[in-house]
Amino acid sequence: MSELLRMEHISKRFSRKFANKDVSLTVNHGEVLTLLGENGAGKSTLMNILIGLVKPTEGKIFLEGREVRIESPSQAVRLGIGMVHQHFMLVEAMTVFENIILGDKHAKGILIDRNARRREIEELSAKYGLDVQLDKRISEISVGEQQRTEILKALYHGADLLILDEPSAALTDIEVEGLFSIMRKLVSEGKSIIFISHKMREVLHISDRITVLRTGEVVGTVNRSETDGAKLSAMMMGRELAVSQYEKKDCTGKAAVAELSGVEYHKKQKHSGLDGISMTIRKGEIVGIAGVDGNGQTQLAQMITGVISPEAGSISLKEHKVSIFDPYDFIRNGVSHVPEDRNHQGLVGDMDVAENLILKNSRGDGFSYGKGTLLNKHAINDYADKMIKKYNIKCSSSAEKVRALSGGNQQKVVLARELESEPELLVATHPTRGLDIGASRFIHDQMIAARERGVGILLISADFDEVLEMSDRILVMFEGRFMGEYSGKNPPIEEISMAMTGK
Ligand SMILES: Nc1ncnc2c1ncn2[C@@H]1O[C@H](COP(=O)(O)OP(=O)(O)O)[C@@H](O)[C@H]1O
Ligand SMILES: [Mg+2]
Repeated sequence: MSELLRMEHISKRFSRKFANKDVSLTVNHGEVLTLLGENGAGKSTLMNILIGLVKPTEGKIFLEGREVRIESPSQAVRLGIGMVHQHFMLVEAMTVFENIILGDKHAKGILIDRNARRREIEELSAKYGLDVQLDKRISEISVGEQQRTEILKALYHGADLLILDEPSAALTDIEVEGLFSIMRKLVSEGKSIIFISHKMREVLHISDRITVLRTGEVVGTVNRSETDGAKLSAMMMGRELAVSQYEKKDCTGKAAVAELSGVEYHKKQKHSGLDGISMTIRKGEIVGIAGVDGNGQTQLAQMITGVISPEAGSISLKEHKVSIFDPYDFIRNGVSHVPEDRNHQGLVGDMDVAENLILKNSRGDGFSYGKGTLLNKHAINDYADKMIKKYNIKCSSSAEKVRALSGGNQQKVVLARELESEPELLVATHPTRGLDIGASRFIHDQMIAARERGVGILLISADFDEVLEMSDRILVMFEGRFMGEYSGKNPPIEEISMAMTGK
């Protein structure tokens, strides 16, 4: 394979800190090169250098063997480099078509036939399987379709090299499959892709070669066929991360912390209702819900945390039937929740770490005087410092705004708060979504430790690997029903995958 891009000895310093240090890499025609590295490893900075958004402190870039200077994104586009950013750059109020032709290569004063452009876009869309609805506004389409719009836009503007920065982070498993088949099509037509990810399963699945970055430096570049997950993790984290083998428990006969019996909720709405659900979560047990997002998991989590109430059937907590459905009653009854969307439900971004840690508990534990109106700052800060240590939360101090923390550290704040209240039941919804391996592992270890203390855990996750790794028992959810129940010990993976699609 011949070389398309070479980056040589690239360094970038922000004040005194190197975001990239002496980084060299190559990308061949018709291949997927993956940039693998934990959060903060320097992946985005390197790509921003490549598309002229960031000026390197040192280093050279060659395209087809010729040195190029890339000083602006429009210059990168002219050189055939297109980037789909982690956060899309589309104009919400405009249509897909208008977004794609924005900054058109052939425009500049001449009135170009809209129909001709449309045809060109439609041809590209058909060629690469990039399904989009050209006349829909961005605000009306799914995240997956917005991403296809971005890719189509890059191709329309002539990209031969496509940079995809964490493209799977916001997608469901099925959408990720779709993205991968588009990527395969692109490379088979001779395009090149730089794929950024920290999800090992995806990286192993789609890459031809992998360049691993750690703290701004290249650890190495390997062929996909000559490596495996354990080796890559070790390169990425600088230490061996043993393939986790959490012990599986059989909790038959133990006391139930929560029980659902024939629970129904909007059951006629196939994908967002609950259609006669029964299940038990026992003391010291992790029950995992496997399933494609949108099959009732959100409603299940809301039901078992008291946000919504069943239209038929019943719920018991600690063997007492619930009569009032109110989240605060559930909290008082020992139910903790790591919610699906930590930014909207779990944390208050504008409050600091300490305030978020005591959010549910500001009247207890000596944190307040009098009737709870005056907060005891000193006690709160001591407590927060203890939690920061215990949960390994990386922040400048407990007074740092939660918004400024990385996703992994935000999630640790949520988990610290939810576990320190010593719950009977922890409902963990996508607890490691978007987190890197190190942070995910920490969260998993904490969940296992909670299980050992006797906490019953309901794990709801669209990440099948996570469900397999963590669950003592697995229930498969499809269209608001359970399709089967499996022991977490040697579960029949094929059968479960089929059940997830309703077969
Ligand atoms: N504009 C900037 N100013 C200062 N530091 C930055 C800037 N952009 C990135 N960094 C720092 O550079 C390092 C690498 O960041 P980044 O390239 O975003 O990593 P990744 O994409 O691998 O998560 C991080 O420590 C980050 O805080
Ligand atoms: Mg990044």
